[in-house]
Amino acid sequence: MNVKQAIRTKRAVRQYTDDAVPDEIIREILDTARWSQSSKNTQPWEFVIVTDPDKLRELAEAGNFTTHVPDAAFVIVLVSDDDHFWRGFDLGQVAMCLQLAAWEKGIGSCPIAFQRPEQAKAVLQVPSGKAVHAGITFGYPSTGFKPAKMGGRESVDAQTHWNTW
Ligand SMILES: Cc1cc2nc3c(=O)[nH]c(=O)nc-3n(C[C@H](O)[C@H](O)[C@H](O)COP(=O)(O)O)c2cc1C
Repeated sequence: MNVKQAIRTKRAVRQYTDDAVPDEIIREILDTARWSQSSKNTQPWEFVIVTDPDKLRELAEAGNFTTHVPDAAFVIVLVSDDDHFWRGFDLGQVAMCLQLAAWEKGIGSCPIAFQRPEQAKAVLQVPSGKAVHAGITFGYPSTGFKPAKMGGRESVDAQTHWNTW
């Protein structure tokens, strides 16, 4: 899978098989994604890997669009030390690296937002000084899963200004 194929085919996957993803594969995904760039190379992320089915069910309660969370093989919850814009920027980049590294291994994923971040923190016992706003569900796509059709994005011309607005 080259970079273009990876980006073009990586779509949200919310239906998974019951297969577990071995810990060593999860570690490989993390080991690849940790090379993501960050402002001043601060690497301002920590991850909570959630595989426990009870915890996944509890975590699903912390978001409004998270019904697929209990079906995931695992969730990576993104943790940072504050809510500054650049923290979000850096976390977004490592989130995409995690998803592309997983996709190369045939593992689908979908970002999730926690509308009740304090609830997510409580479930995972994240210290009060840390910020938790998002996670990513992962799992092998269910047999019925069909990637979204190509398209579904604005055209280059609709999104782009050259030299001036
Ligand atoms: C910051 C962010 C938050 C998201 N939150 C959720 C979510 O809470 N629940 C969900 O099902 N999908 C969530 N998504 C997935 C988006 O709905 C999905 O990426 C978008 O619709 C494009 O889907 P596609 O790549 O399959 O076309 C989120 C995506 C991003 C980038």
